[in-house]
Amino acid sequence: MPKSKEAWGSRVGLILAMAGNAVGLGNFLRFPVQAIRNGGGAFIIPYLVSFLLMGLPLLWIEWSQGRFGGIWGNHSTPFIFDSLGKKRIWKYVGVFGIFTDLGIISYYTYIESWTFTYTFKSIAQSFRGLSRHQVSAAFDHYAGVHSTLAGHALPVNIPAWAIIAFLVTLAINIYILSRGLSGGVEKVAKIGMPLLLIFGVFLAIRGITLGSTGIAGCATCNSHVGLDFLWKPNFTSLSDPKVWLAAAGQIFFTLSVGMGTIHCYASYLKKNEDIALNAMTAGWMNEFVEIVLGASIVIPISVGYMGLDWVKANAGFMTAFKTMPYLFSQWGVVLSTLSGVAWFGLLFFAGITSSLAMGTPFMAFLQDEFNVSRNKSSLILGAVILILAIPTILFYQIGVFDEYDYWTGTVSLVVFALLEVVLFSWVIGVDKGWEEIKRGADIKMPLIYKPIMKWITPIFIIVIFVSALIKPVGGGIADWQLAFHQLFTHGTWPFAHDSIIAQMFHIGTPWVYFKNGLPTAMFFKDMSRLLLTLTFAGVAVLVHIAAKKRGKTAKITEP
Ligand code: PHE
Repeated sequence: MPKSKEAWGSRVGLILAMAGNAVGLGNFLRFPVQAIRNGGGAFIIPYLVSFLLMGLPLLWIEWSQGRFGGIWGNHSTPFIFDSLGKKRIWKYVGVFGIFTDLGIISYYTYIESWTFTYTFKSIAQSFRGLSRHQVSAAFDHYAGVHSTLAGHALPVNIPAWAIIAFLVTLAINIYILSRGLSGGVEKVAKIGMPLLLIFGVFLAIRGITLGSTGIAGCATCNSHVGLDFLWKPNFTSLSDPKVWLAAAGQIFFTLSVGMGTIHCYASYLKKNEDIALNAMTAGWMNEFVEIVLGASIVIPISVGYMGLDWVKANAGFMTAFKTMPYLFSQWGVVLSTLSGVAWFGLLFFAGITSSLAMGTPFMAFLQDEFNVSRNKSSLILGAVILILAIPTILFYQIGVFDEYDYWTGTVSLVVFALLEVVLFSWVIGVDKGWEEIKRGADIKMPLIYKPIMKWITPIFIIVIFVSALIKPVGGGIADWQLAFHQLFTHGTWPFAHDSIIAQMFHIGTPWVYFKNGLPTAMFFKDMSRLLLTLTFAGVAVLVHIAAKKRGKTAKITEP
């Protein structure tokens, strides 16, 4: 059995690290954008239902699978699953739990590096006196985005500062990881999470109290209008598959389920340590940060200045960098500097406690299977991230970044989550799984979750996955009816541009790799897919080698 010296230092540290894993950029950047695009109050109900029927069960499942694997000395999903499922195939299913993290961490660390730079830019008051367009242009300049790029030369940008900041951010991550769980990750979580909460509360108070005081002469510019839009429940969305898809996708991403990070962290628990209460505490902590703090900053503040219609039409991931610094700069020197530091500092801590979690499974795998030291495994991880991240930085504008986010941050996690529930509820059997969760539990597990885990969660995920796979143009309930009608009358299906099938086969886009002697966006997209596929294959080969090596050593016995 592989030996590991890693362990968590304390329960508080473990919970903060797990909460730090979940609380990330997703809470502050992705959630508000998803909520605003999907009808505000209309989004919240499907979101909460997805949390209760899918998110929470997945948390318990992952914590219990992780702790179980850890008893056998396995800390990464390929061999955690190997100790659970009898069939050899489960090891390879576990590859997802390393692959997904490597894919996400590569673009995630890049965003993290923006927050790092912007914290310093806020301290230096770089946005003072700039117009909104100038603040927005400053970001484009920083990330090497040029409006004149299309069709001229190779779409390559070498944004020097962005690259340097990325390398520094990566080095910080690698250094912390090389210090181990209790000596690195846990310490950062203990400092970063409380700071994040303080910064978040400060900004949320600003968002809530701003009201209509932000800008004179704009009747709709009121932060309360933004809060109202987010919180007034709207039941019409319950029958809208689009909203459900977005809500479920957000639950996956924000809780970090379907990625192998929770498995890995939980594998360092002791055999009888509580998971029932710990999993719930970390999960609810994430929800508090997302629903209360995440919802009270970007949307209300930007609605307070730009009005709801503008925010609905323009809110995106980039608002955080392109618009927020401008809005802060309306608050006078002291408050704008404080707010800028709080905002980007908060994003940095949210980001780093998540990227550390994403780095851990691959390192644990190298340490367990190939006897690589902690330092060395952190350096290998750094090299892999560097290779995967370079295309997302250089070809950011052409959509390589989005390509990673789509395949690893959106699709892959759903597939993996589905397989892990099947393993838990059907291969092992929900009775056994339930006992595993209950062992050492500090709370009484609500019995209703047993049938939920057996039936509802897997069916829920299947429905979500199949809907995303074949989503028809429009995606609303009437669009689905129309699509089925078309299927039965004409034998065709109107795949939406963002359905998985359409993405996979580039449906609707001509298959052209070179135009006028220059590579097209499709070329870059497909090359990045190739790189991701090779990453998956590479991890699978390593798993295969590790399994062979294990076969040669003595038979594993239960400790
Ligand atoms: N949950 C994190 C967020 O909300 C993202 C994350 C993805 C963390 C994968 C770990 C693993 O930003």
